[in-house]
Amino acid sequence: MAGPSGVGTRTFSQHIADRQKGFPEARGEFTALLQEIMVAAKVISREVRKAGLIDALGLTGRMNIQGEAVQILDEFANETIIRNVGHTGHLCVLSSEENAEPIPIPDQYPRGGYVMTFDPLDGSSNIDGNVSIGTIFSIHRKRSSGTDGTLEDLLQAGRDQVAAGYIIYGSSTILVYSTGRGQGVHGFTLDPTVGEFLLSHPDIRIPTDGRIYSVNEGNTGRWDEKTRKVVAGLKGSDNPRGEPYSTRYIGSLVADFHRNLLYGGIFLYPPDAKHPTGKLRLLSEAAPMSFLAEEAGGKATTGRERVLDVVPKELHERVPLIVGSPREVEWAERILAS
Ligand code: AHG
Ligand code: MN
Ligand code: MN
Repeated sequence: MAGPSGVGTRTFSQHIADRQKGFPEARGEFTALLQEIMVAAKVISREVRKAGLIDALGLTGRMNIQGEAVQILDEFANETIIRNVGHTGHLCVLSSEENAEPIPIPDQYPRGGYVMTFDPLDGSSNIDGNVSIGTIFSIHRKRSSGTDGTLEDLLQAGRDQVAAGYIIYGSSTILVYSTGRGQGVHGFTLDPTVGEFLLSHPDIRIPTDGRIYSVNEGNTGRWDEKTRKVVAGLKGSDNPRGEPYSTRYIGSLVADFHRNLLYGGIFLYPPDAKHPTGKLRLLSEAAPMSFLAEEAGGKATTGRERVLDVVPKELHERVPLIVGSPREVEWAERILAS
C-alpha cells in the first residue's frame, strides 16, 4: 500500500517531471536524458536477470583499456547505454570505462547540451557468481562552444556534476539518483510486474555514525602504515565507536556503497603497491558515488582531499576512495592526512 509520500506508486518518470516544474526555464532536455538512462537500465536489468539462461555469462575474450577481461554483459550494457542514451540527442559526447577514448555521437544523430561518463557494469568479476552488480552514471553540462563535445567537456571536477546515480541489480533492481544542490538522493525499485521504477527510498540520508567497514583486506600487505592503522583501528576499539566494526565487502562498488548508504559505514579503496593511486576510476566510479554520498549527508575523500574537488587530467584516472558516514570518514581522514 502506498503512503502519502508516493512510496510504492510514484514512478521515476513522474518524479523527475515534477522536479522539472521547479525550474521554469528548463526545456526538458535533462528530464529526457534521465528518462533514457532509466530505459537503458530496464533493458540491462532484463538481460542480467536471465543471464544464465541466454548464454550471456562469461568472457568476450577481449581486454578493456584497464587491462581487465571484458565480460559479455559488460559489452551488452556498454552498447545499450551508447545506443539508448547516447543517440537520443541529449548528449554531445560520452565516456565509458570500457572505451579508451571519448565516444563521439555519430554524424546521423543530433547533439545535446550534456556530457555523460559511465561504468556500464560495475562489479563484473561478480557476474558469473550471481552476486550483485550495477551501472554508474555521471552527468555534466557541456562547456565547450562547438557542436561536438570535447575531452575538456569530459574532464570536469565531480563538484560540477548536475546529476549522478547508479542502478543496482541485486535482490531487486534499484535506481538511485541525485541532481545535487539539496534536491536529495532518491531510490526507485523496478517492479517487474508493471515494468516501472517506483519510488521506494525517498530522500535517503546516510546514518551519521556507521557500524560497518568495507575494504579488500587481502591487500593488507600492499598498504602503507597509515592505511593499516585505519583498518586495525576499525577492527579494534581505537575508533569513534569504541568497539569493532563488522566487515562487509562484496567487491562491487555499487553494492558495497548502496549497503553502506542505507546502513551507515565506511568503504575504502586505498592506494596499494599494486594500485599506487588507488584502483577506482575517478570519473566513472569515485566522483558519482562521492556526489551521492555528500548529497545524502556523507563524506568522500581521497585521504588528502575531497573527491569532488579533484580535477581529472585524463579519462581513466584512478583515485583512492574513502566514502561513507561522516563520523567514520572524518576519523579515517585525520589518520591518513597526519
Ligand atoms: P569493474 O567491475 O567496473 O571493473 O569495477 C570493479 C571495481 C569495483 O566495483 C570494486 O569496488 C572493486 O573493483 C573491487 O576490487 P577488488 O576486487 O580489488 O577488491
Ligand atoms: Mn566499476
Ligand atoms: Mn565496469
